[in-house]
Amino acid sequence: MTGHLLSTRDLGRDEAIALLDTAEDMSSTQRRSVKKLPTLRGRTVVNCFFEDSTRTRISFELAAKRLSADVVTFTARGSSVSKGEGLQDTAQTLQAMGADGIVLRHPASGAAAVLAASGWTHAGVVNAGDGTHEHPTQALLDAFTIRRRLHGEAARGHDLAGVRVLIVGDILHSRVARSNLWLLTALGAEVGFVAPPTLLPTGIGRWPATVATDFDTALGARPDVVMMLRVQRERMADAFFPSVREYAALYGLSEARAAALPERTVIMHPGPMNRGLEIAGAVADSARSAVLEQVEHGIAVRMAVLYRVLTGSDDPASGAVTGAGASA
Ligand code: NCD
Repeated sequence: MTGHLLSTRDLGRDEAIALLDTAEDMSSTQRRSVKKLPTLRGRTVVNCFFEDSTRTRISFELAAKRLSADVVTFTARGSSVSKGEGLQDTAQTLQAMGADGIVLRHPASGAAAVLAASGWTHAGVVNAGDGTHEHPTQALLDAFTIRRRLHGEAARGHDLAGVRVLIVGDILHSRVARSNLWLLTALGAEVGFVAPPTLLPTGIGRWPATVATDFDTALGARPDVVMMLRVQRERMADAFFPSVREYAALYGLSEARAAALPERTVIMHPGPMNRGLEIAGAVADSARSAVLEQVEHGIAVRMAVLYRVLTGSDDPASGAVTGAGASA
């Protein structure tokens, strides 16, 4: 076992910057016509998705393939999980089959940590989203995207000191909000949350962030980044707001709200988007929107994470990334 990535809470500033810098190295290789590196040749990565996903699953799969790992992806539907097999038997089976890395998405908060501590497998574990708890690679790709927008190709080595990030919407159910809070604050950014009172978790007052319920007032403070969150209706057993129309009117990033923001404001969304609910389609497609950059950078960031978890190194200068075998 060489390590795990379970949470951004245990990433310090320097460690986070080192990971983002490794992702920069990975990203520079992704502009070549042949994108594949030999770095993880002979290693096996298994993507276990016990919860629905499109972009995260495909992104991890491409990241592992571009590092030449053997990669297998299975989803709960169509696997023995749908026959009632639990995490323990799945993990022990994968161990017996020789998995070196397990990328886990699971509806239970804490599932990745349980797997990493269990002894059921010696594989490095990467948390790809556990319930409403954390989604560390999403936060890393968000930080990478913000750093790129601010510093362009010269982003290497920078933290996010003084950058003001407003995170808006369904904070209660959002693992993206939690992972971003820990990572962004470790990098020196100032985080503000805005949501209807019913979508703020209890205890949020103890988080290192400002909390507000009026979106227009928060936008008036001209944040550098506005990160919209999906309304996660699949996690809502009750009605958390009176109507979709009212939510969009009070908390949606409409064209009018976006037009009032400075030109340099970066607009983000982790996807999948509810167009017309938390974000207007035209805003998501505008030049200020970094939504597709987030998707693109996700691959480089996940390559960096898999590299670190499977080799225990942040330093690809060994030649594995940039040297022989990496076709130009
Ligand atoms: C996020 C997730 O699954 O937590 N999506 C993603 O990974 N791209 C956010 C969401 O589902 O709203």
